[in-house]
Amino acid sequence: MSTLRKRITLSALSFSICAGISGAVFAQSLGSPISESQLRGFDLIAPPDGSGYPEGGGTALQGKIIFESRCSACHGMGGEGTSAATRLVGGDMQSEERPIRTVGSYWPHASTLFDYVQRAMPADAPKSLSSSEVYQVIAYILNMNGIIEASLVLNRDSLLQVEMPNKDGFIDRSQAL
Ligand code: HEC
Repeated sequence: MSTLRKRITLSALSFSICAGISGAVFAQSLGSPISESQLRGFDLIAPPDGSGYPEGGGTALQGKIIFESRCSACHGMGGEGTSAATRLVGGDMQSEERPIRTVGSYWPHASTLFDYVQRAMPADAPKSLSSSEVYQVIAYILNMNGIIEASLVLNRDSLLQVEMPNKDGFIDRSQAL
């Protein structure tokens, strides 16, 4: 074989080896296509404008049972938390040392509570609650914070009527500038 032929054969060989390796790497990093039902598991945005809420509902009385079995290990029986990050009840934004932020003292919209719990809680099994269970357990958190009555049926309509204590505690920077 001539030297030139050898070179061409060698470069063709190394090209196909490289192409083979990079092909394998691409095939791994591209993953598999997401299905419609998997996509629905991520399409969970429930903003304060009232869009994106599922059917279902329930009361704090129903939510108490869910909270005690699915949430209290990390959040305490009364929502007092097992750490500063897991405290859900009480709190004080005017506290002398530093603000004590909880769902009750800090969060401006009840819709955030629905969105967050539906998406991320319980932390040891996210997305394992039905929509009605989410309404019920957040009704219980709101009730423990003295924001709604235990008998109020929380659903996509009543949730938007809930007034959070700190709703005016934020500045809309687009308006302020
Ligand atoms: C295995 C432990 C665990 C369980 C069980 C659990 N959580 Fe949590 N939860 C956490 C942790 C940890 C955080 C704080 C996450 C962070 O700050 O990023 C949190 C944060 C939250 C918050 C936001 C608090 C805030 O002010 O930022 C809410 C609301 C909440 N959880 C609700 C629930 C509900 C409702 C359940 C039961 C259905 C539940 N959690 C079950 C561990 C848990």
